[in-house]
Amino acid sequence: MTRSKIAGIGMYVPEHVVTNNDLKKYMDTSDEWIQERTGIQERHYAHRTKETTTTMGVEAATIAIQRAGITPQDIDFIVFATLCPDYYFPGCGVLVQRAMKMKEIGALDVRNQCSGFVYALSVADQFIKTGMYKNILVIGSEKHSFGLDFSTRGRNVSVIFGDGAGAVVLQPTEEANRGILSTHLHSDGSSAEILAMYNPGTHANHWTEKPLATFDEAEIAQMFMSHKMIDNAELFPYMDGPAVFKKAVVKFPEVIVESLKANNLTAKDINMLIPHQANLRISQFVQQHLGLSDDQVHNNIQKYGNTTAASVPIALCEAYEQGRIKDGDLVCLAAFGSGFTWASALLRW
Ligand code: UT7
Repeated sequence: MTRSKIAGIGMYVPEHVVTNNDLKKYMDTSDEWIQERTGIQERHYAHRTKETTTTMGVEAATIAIQRAGITPQDIDFIVFATLCPDYYFPGCGVLVQRAMKMKEIGALDVRNQCSGFVYALSVADQFIKTGMYKNILVIGSEKHSFGLDFSTRGRNVSVIFGDGAGAVVLQPTEEANRGILSTHLHSDGSSAEILAMYNPGTHANHWTEKPLATFDEAEIAQMFMSHKMIDNAELFPYMDGPAVFKKAVVKFPEVIVESLKANNLTAKDINMLIPHQANLRISQFVQQHLGLSDDQVHNNIQKYGNTTAASVPIALCEAYEQGRIKDGDLVCLAAFGSGFTWASALLRW
């Protein structure tokens, strides 16, 4: 039976470290508040002009490809997960194809925010299992720092997020005790607007019933993006943090248990849980709820903040590099975020 295995993994975080105290220059916050509520001590911010979501993805991908023992020309499909693409369109996948001088392969962008990497991995897994592709590059990358509200108004969101990228190369394996055992994907759009960036977008909220022919020049110029949006901070992400927290602590354990049950395993069998790094309190709740020891969970939100689609591959790569994951280990990846979407993947390393 063909399964997908992670043949190579890499991560990249920008050089520039921003501490909680650094953020105090822009907003009314404190190191104490941020650490107590989220566990975050610092995060990395990309260079404002030299680094993008794509370039960071390429850095991580370069390491993953080297570790897989192949070259960029061997990659036959790209799946790129991000919520902050370089351009509104096209997606980052094609920019990676160009930057890494790959063949004219398919490139797909996934927009599932914090669950993006696990969704992307699941998509890639299906292509490997059907035999369609042999070397798929899966990337999660985010340059959050370009679009956060650093005034006190946006402090509940801006202190949480950091920049970075993680990537894996998926390949087929026939080995009995290796590879992705199963993936589990979910969504519930009923709360889509409680963690979202509304603008620019095609939703109707800022449109009038007035016929287009009657628009004056200023109205035409501001159809897609208006001064009002800037004045009302509508171009920044919005989050009802407590509501997201409440849902996350239910859906995280649920989707982990679902993956275990599907494989006739229990929480005791997990060697390493890699939860999406949303909030240390959420990860600790999940750990406690499942009865896992500290040795069974990897958290690094303290150093990187929440890097959304990059958080799972960064944490997985770091746990691997620190020798916390060994051949044959049962590894569980789990994520929850905007949408809401949530997902898990269970694999034998
Ligand atoms: O990865 C995507 C999914 N996202 C998540 O999973 C995030 C889930 N939610 C959370 O992690 C938490 O809700 C937050 C960390 C975002 C916020 O923590 P909280 O304990 O839920 O705080 P809160 O939003 O209820 O705010 C409590 C107080 C408020 O002040 P008042 O109204 O009580 O006077 C906020 O204005 O804390 C204030 N506050 C801050 N104070 C200092 C909010 N942000 C800050 C801040 N510094 N950065």
